[in-house]
Amino acid sequence: MKKRYRMGVIGLGEGRSIMSAALHSERFELAQVCDLNEELCRQRAQEFDFHRWTTSYEEMLANDEIDVIAIYTPDQLHFTHIRQAVEAGKHAICTKPVLPSLDDAAKLLAFMKQTDRKLFIGQSTRYFEPMLHQRQDFEAGKHGELSVVETHYITDGRWFLDKGWSRQKGFSWFHGFMIHAVDLVRWYIPDVSEVSGFARTSANTKAFGLEAWDSLRFIARNEAGQIATMAGDYALPTLGQHAQSQIGCVLRGTQGVTRAEYSNLTYYTHFAGEGPKVHSFDDKEPYYFRFENKSHHAGEYQNYIEYFADCLDRGEAPLPDAREAVHTLALMEAMTRSVQRGGQPVKLAEVIAEYGL
Ligand SMILES: NC(=O)c1ccc[n+]([C@@H]2O[C@H](COP(=O)([O-])OP(=O)(O)OC[C@H]3O[C@@H](n4cnc5c(N)ncnc54)[C@H](O)[C@@H]3O)[C@@H](O)[C@H]2O)c1
Repeated sequence: MKKRYRMGVIGLGEGRSIMSAALHSERFELAQVCDLNEELCRQRAQEFDFHRWTTSYEEMLANDEIDVIAIYTPDQLHFTHIRQAVEAGKHAICTKPVLPSLDDAAKLLAFMKQTDRKLFIGQSTRYFEPMLHQRQDFEAGKHGELSVVETHYITDGRWFLDKGWSRQKGFSWFHGFMIHAVDLVRWYIPDVSEVSGFARTSANTKAFGLEAWDSLRFIARNEAGQIATMAGDYALPTLGQHAQSQIGCVLRGTQGVTRAEYSNLTYYTHFAGEGPKVHSFDDKEPYYFRFENKSHHAGEYQNYIEYFADCLDRGEAPLPDAREAVHTLALMEAMTRSVQRGGQPVKLAEVIAEYGL
């Protein structure tokens, strides 16, 4: 039988999904959970009939039984909570984005370099059923030579602005939401070298007193000439899932084209020698969508904690690790600069050199 790891969770908003993931996984035992908000702790305790909670992170870190800390606190606190977990001798899973900007990126990389503890960044979209199948087909070479990756994350996310921290310094639709579309591009074209794009802030976001860009379009490429496009809209009405999935990832290659969707459990393929096919994973709906609405990620989290457990068994670095996640943030900084420079192409090397990555 494989080893079971014991998990502590900090941050019980979306941390609710990781509680569910750990409680349903054979690879994990949920050991303790933590949130500053005592009422929320009590609510989760009742919901999951799980009563080992605390409002003190220090208390949870002192718990010798815990091997892995899963961090679901606001973006601005991630680095502090990772550092505390690792210093307490724990491995860590941190939700995306690992950092709200590149300011602490070099420090994070240096910090992770001097420890044998593992840090995994929970880019949940990679672990959604259609995306897992698309990746499998890609790794099997079924697309032939990859020419183009097209990703989007388009959702009316105005509900998110009810969270107090979403209106504080450090929050942006770009880092909070569009990172999923950017990460998917880097999964397939890890060496993106140049990007350009445009972005704007609509009156709908300004109405919340925020200046964050809510409509963004980018085009990127690597030295080999592979092309990617990335699109995001966050405060505009949408057509609905049936007309356009919230997240989409299209891969176009010499031997085939595929499209993986979220939150539709649908994957489209057309490979050489086969007709176009639609693969539906609707039978997995209860696994992926355990709570109200479709804005929770328990299924993806269960997939990624089990992958993390396999990596720990083998002593391997789980991906994305700190380095990969930081390079995605570097691409996002290049995207930001391109917008600020009126759409001019920006080389990733400029950002990497400047931040010492
Ligand atoms: N697809 C995904 O992977 C996904 C989806 C949603 C949210 N997230 C990420 O999860 C993180 C949290 O987002 P959320 O929507 O749950 O926000 P949230 O505000 O609902 O929850 C954050 C929780 O952290 C708690 N907290 C803050 N500081 C703390 C501290 N020092 N000690 C203990 N608890 C503390 C707060 O009390 C709050 O309950 C963000 O980084 C967000 O980007 C990821």
